[in-house]
Amino acid sequence: MHRPHTVSRTPAPDAEYLMRDTTSHPLAYTPAYKTSVLRSPRLSLISLQQSLSEVTAPVFRAEELGPKDNDLILNYAKSGLAIGERLVVHGYVHDQIGRPVKNALVEVWQSNASGRYRHKKDQYIGALDPNFGGCGRMLTDANGYYAFRTIKPGPYPWRNRVNDWRPAHIHYAISGDGWVQRLITQMYFEGDPLIRSCPILGVVPSEEQIRGLIALQDSSAFVPLDSRAYRFDIVLRGHRATLFENHVQQAPLEGAGPPPGRAKAARAPSEGSAAASAASLGARS
Ligand SMILES: [Fe+2]
Repeated sequence: MHRPHTVSRTPAPDAEYLMRDTTSHPLAYTPAYKTSVLRSPRLSLISLQQSLSEVTAPVFRAEELGPKDNDLILNYAKSGLAIGERLVVHGYVHDQIGRPVKNALVEVWQSNASGRYRHKKDQYIGALDPNFGGCGRMLTDANGYYAFRTIKPGPYPWRNRVNDWRPAHIHYAISGDGWVQRLITQMYFEGDPLIRSCPILGVVPSEEQIRGLIALQDSSAFVPLDSRAYRFDIVLRGHRATLFENHVQQAPLEGAGPPPGRAKAARAPSEGSAAASAASLGARS
């Protein structure tokens, strides 16, 4: 019997499990985003067998989280409130066919209102806010719903091209019931003019994928005389999947040759591998 060498990634309409379309992700090696030159793999990726604990843990319980974990205005407050525009950010986490993803851990981290991270390697001149830490976490409820309170992060400059600025953004990590499921992405704010000039977003293949990363202002969730609100829904898989950072498409090295200085070997960052997470968490990006 003839067996094709390639498997179609087009899922059947009634399929319950949709394979992730890795071809829809940006290339790993995209020189316009200069950091990708050093971070992208030079050799073919290899798959490592996953351990039992990677696929059976963690199990999150609400009592393990603190009461202020989803309140970035208060969870680092020392002598007052965090400075900046007060926001509620909320939305739903869905699977590939629209079912709610309940009890998922949603972790967020961001710069403060002046665009500075509370991190020793962040040397940006923007002031640190003594009352703002910039990290939070929460579990989705039975409907896949999550919400947190924060201040609007500021844009910040970074060393890519001269005068490159990151749009205001919030980093997200979503963990299900296995460490290898951890997914990482960034949320942007509707109307930010820096979105169009961002070199990182510039390597995202389609407008639709970029739109999926932009939270919309949601006046229905405004808190009167207190906060505005943004809505950011996340789809884990399928045709409407949110673009996640920790999936690597092989670089097109045919005829190009690997650029000098890149790592000699690379482990394929599985969904949520420690390497992928560390790379993302440590990056000022
Ligand atoms: Fe960032």
